[in-house]
Amino acid sequence: MLDIIIEGGKLVYPDATIDADLAVNNGKIVAVGSSSSFGKAEQTIDASGKYVVPGGVDPHVHIYVPFMGTRSMDEWENGTMALAVGGTTTAIDFAGIGWKHPSLLGAVKARRQEADGKVVIDYGLHAVPSQHTTKAVDEVSEIVKSGVPDFKIFMVYRADKLAIEDGELVAIWRELARNDGMMLLHTENDAMAVYNVGRALKEGKRKPVNHYYTKSNLVEAEAINRALFISEQLNAAFYDVHMSVREGVALFREARKKGRPVYSETITHYLVLTKDTMERPDGYNFLCSPPLREKEDQEALWRGLAEGVVSVVGSDQAAYSSKSKKRASAESFDKIPNGFPGMEFRVPILFSEGVLKRRISVNRFVAVTSTNAAKIFGLYPKKGALFAGSDADIVVIDPKAEKTIRVGDSLYHSDWYPYAGMKVKGWPVVTLSKGVVLAKDGKFVGPKRHGKFLPRRLSKEALTRPIV
Ligand code: URP
Ligand code: ZN
Ligand code: ZN
Repeated sequence: MLDIIIEGGKLVYPDATIDADLAVNNGKIVAVGSSSSFGKAEQTIDASGKYVVPGGVDPHVHIYVPFMGTRSMDEWENGTMALAVGGTTTAIDFAGIGWKHPSLLGAVKARRQEADGKVVIDYGLHAVPSQHTTKAVDEVSEIVKSGVPDFKIFMVYRADKLAIEDGELVAIWRELARNDGMMLLHTENDAMAVYNVGRALKEGKRKPVNHYYTKSNLVEAEAINRALFISEQLNAAFYDVHMSVREGVALFREARKKGRPVYSETITHYLVLTKDTMERPDGYNFLCSPPLREKEDQEALWRGLAEGVVSVVGSDQAAYSSKSKKRASAESFDKIPNGFPGMEFRVPILFSEGVLKRRISVNRFVAVTSTNAAKIFGLYPKKGALFAGSDADIVVIDPKAEKTIRVGDSLYHSDWYPYAGMKVKGWPVVTLSKGVVLAKDGKFVGPKRHGKFLPRRLSKEALTRPIV
């Protein structure tokens, strides 16, 4: 007897959409085909009129993160429950932000201790060296072996002790390349940003929108250009996190034409919000880094996604209380904690704004919300795929379900959403993780503590050529 059959839906892959059924047993997909040939199951899920997609893979979340003098509001349990409800079954978070000790390996262990036993979906970690982790270069090999094969380095936030010197950055990058690891960079030019912020403050320009003017497209594009250059010189792979600028799309287009193993990720909010939100009375809420940009940047990012130049959409979840943290520092833009809640809306917003508005195909939607991140980060085809043998991480999306996002409707404890008031069509109605139904019709119905740490190893292909 099988555990579950999902029948009648349209199965979506990056390169095909097929009318077929899925058989699930012992946490795995065991067959793809016609349910008439599957035998009996304990439970049948009717997916007629719906899309059946691999569970979302969000490679960029910050759950319960200490940052800019505060800590984000979400916790591992409710944060991962919200992700499941929103159609994401794998998340990759970061170890090292806010860590004040020399050993980065220590940060990885500590972050695992925080999350293990609390998460409801599977998760992985990226390591984040900072000015505190003075042993990082020597620890690369051990950290990669521990299942954390990618490092995110901040090129900005030097004063907060996050950005490290270029010499150390290059040394870590070389070590990563030697150990089959990958460099992820937060690409903003710190010197330009510091100068611009200092000047704005001197001139009394303290309103939220000055965040945008001081962190212009040039601040980000210069750093992307430099990172691509270093990656080429080192012959090493590179993944640009949270890319927001049109210039970045153009730079990646050129680099990838040369066959370079370079990948860019954009974030839900850069696709649907612009800098104009910072002019609103509650504009202090809309600060993240890089900042929200202009319509032209948004259009370039959508085109990049459709064309295959931009590979992944993450959420960059980093949520701070609107009332007690963001509003409290609203009198000066440089004091406002950077980051947004909303990881549970990444999949539905991409479906609604991307697929239903015909900016990307449903196949590209699956690629950028799930499969590509799984391929880049060494999780494929266990995650990000609907094949026999893959984990039964499966999401059923009802393309007709329509709902307006409201604060208070989500499991996640935010007192504010950047997407509040947005009408979204196409919601996950069932989420399975490893063959267990975790969410149904917007409610978490699964067991707690269902998730596990995912030790990862990157594929040689992903490190040597642009595989997605
Ligand atoms: O504003 C942002 N992006 N906050 C989260 C930290 C980061 O840089 O990813
Ligand atoms: Zn960042
Ligand atoms: Zn981030």
